[in-house]
Amino acid sequence: MKNVLVIGSTGQIGSELTMKIRREIPGSTVVAGYIPGAEPKGILLESGPAELADVRNAPQLAAIVDKYRIDTIYNLAALLSAVAEKKPLLAWDIQMNGLLNILEVAREKNCAVFTPSSIGSFGPETPHVGTPQDTIQRPRSMYGVTKVATELLSDYYFHKYGVDTRSVRFPGLISNVTLPGGGTTDYAVEVYYSAVKGEEFVCPIAPGTYMDMMYMPDALGAAVHLMEADPARLVHRNSFNIASMSFEPETLFAKIREYIPSLKVRYEVDPIRQAIANSWPDSMDDSCARAEWDWKPTYDLDSMTVDMIECLRKKLV
Ligand code: SER
Repeated sequence: MKNVLVIGSTGQIGSELTMKIRREIPGSTVVAGYIPGAEPKGILLESGPAELADVRNAPQLAAIVDKYRIDTIYNLAALLSAVAEKKPLLAWDIQMNGLLNILEVAREKNCAVFTPSSIGSFGPETPHVGTPQDTIQRPRSMYGVTKVATELLSDYYFHKYGVDTRSVRFPGLISNVTLPGGGTTDYAVEVYYSAVKGEEFVCPIAPGTYMDMMYMPDALGAAVHLMEADPARLVHRNSFNIASMSFEPETLFAKIREYIPSLKVRYEVDPIRQAIANSWPDSMDDSCARAEWDWKPTYDLDSMTVDMIECLRKKLV
């Protein structure tokens, strides 16, 4: 991984992943790909090249790959689950037609490709506790349908054409840099902002709803570590379960109250998000990722909460 294109570089994951690879991989060139209306700014813009990179524009992608001799593409363009339910055709277009364009460019120009999957790739018939690596998926949301298809298409390009596709199923990601937009797990980010600002938090997810969550530094570490892993050890490719913590809203709020006792929460359950959350795993089994590429998270709920509050206090107060 030397010349890297991050598609969706101004999004929740991309904004931090682009900077991490620029900082940590010596000699790397990391192109920040963006779409109109989501241009990179500040340090993201100043610390390396940036190019318009719309996944629906195959010639544009091919030109960037040629110009920078790209060897690895992180494809982070996606509509999250709640938005995708409102705009299913757009979600399909970005997530599937976009992926096909990327995989074709990767096949022609010999690039490795990382396209995240998600806890959203599972459905109501999936075993919810200790969700195995290989199990029934059958999601009911458009987001989930595109994520299962992403896994299958990525594996297809590996088996048929030898394209080096690898990915993980991300849990809900919690970060203090860029807000997520329109996901089912967003509540677990937003409540930290409300707590630090001293505002009441209105929770769209019902008490008792367990979902896997992860702090962004662990998620970024997984994305980089997997792409650098020894391919000879990989039995699986698309996509690996990875896990670090699983909680329901009350557990998270109680943890935040250990540090900010004044946190006030009211529930106003959003039926779209709740139906999606009910269909997702409570906790995934990530033993294959641990065995095949030494995946290991560093943050738990407590250490994440301490760091989130400290970072948000610096940013917001
Ligand atoms: N965080 C995503 C969402 O809630 C799931 O991967 O849509």
